Amino acid sequence: MSSRKEQIQADRIPKHVAIIMDGNGRWAKKKGYLRSLGHENGVDALRNIATASAKLNIEYLTVYAFSSENWNRPQREVNALMALLVTSLKKELKTLMDNKIRLNAIGNLASLPDKCQQELDEVILKTRENDHMMLTLALSYGSKEEILEATKSIAQQVKEGNLAVEDIDEVTFTQNLYTSGIPDPDLLIRTSNEYRISNYLLWQIAYSELYFTPKLWPEFKDEDLYEAILNYQKRERRFGKISEQLNS
Ligand code: FPP
Repeated sequence: MSSRKEQIQADRIPKHVAIIMDGNGRWAKKKGYLRSLGHENGVDALRNIATASAKLNIEYLTVYAFSSENWNRPQREVNALMALLVTSLKKELKTLMDNKIRLNAIGNLASLPDKCQQELDEVILKTRENDHMMLTLALSYGSKEEILEATKSIAQQVKEGNLAVEDIDEVTFTQNLYTSGIPDPDLLIRTSNEYRISNYLLWQIAYSELYFTPKLWPEFKDEDLYEAILNYQKRERRFGKISEQLNS
């Protein structure tokens, strides 16, 4: 076992880890490959990190696989990513079953090509009894859009007389987000030396610990995950309180 892994405290594992998997394109460029090969290696990294996360007993892993803004990339790259999504879903079902990982998806899923939606639905259905970890793919996901959709849904419930304005609170709001039922991330990791949130889980990360690494996503390995968790375990999460209140 690696010494980093040995140092991890099993009773302080983050329950929910969110990842912005950035740098596939730069990784490919560095190696002189096509960008699409960068994404293919990104899938390998995701398989590896999802498996390592499940082994660490992380309960929820939520990854940014395709943002609402990614639709603006060259059509060829968008098509390649959508095709990769379909082949990866088919190929990875076994990994999900072997590791008891339940697949979930959040985002404007109706905007995905039909083939992607069908494949997603199928894998979500086949893995629904898996109870070790939930892997959520954020696809065609944008946090501002998610917040607007929640607002519209709440307004509709008020309009129909099913909800009183005074009863709108954080719980009501959270229940109307795509992530309803999923606890907020404890740790958010972003790879590739970018210090941005990029419209990812804005409401949900209000109190998450943020971890940035220069590693490009295809080169992010188990050891890097352990490093991020060790770093997280060294931090004191005060949620607005003072140290002494936490210890008492
Ligand atoms: C960021 O790298 C990554 C993405 C936009 C896609 C991430 C996708 C995967 C890891 C594969 C799994 C998901 C699907 C949809 C099959 P980038 O291309 O922005 O890298 P760059 O910033 O270096 O150009």
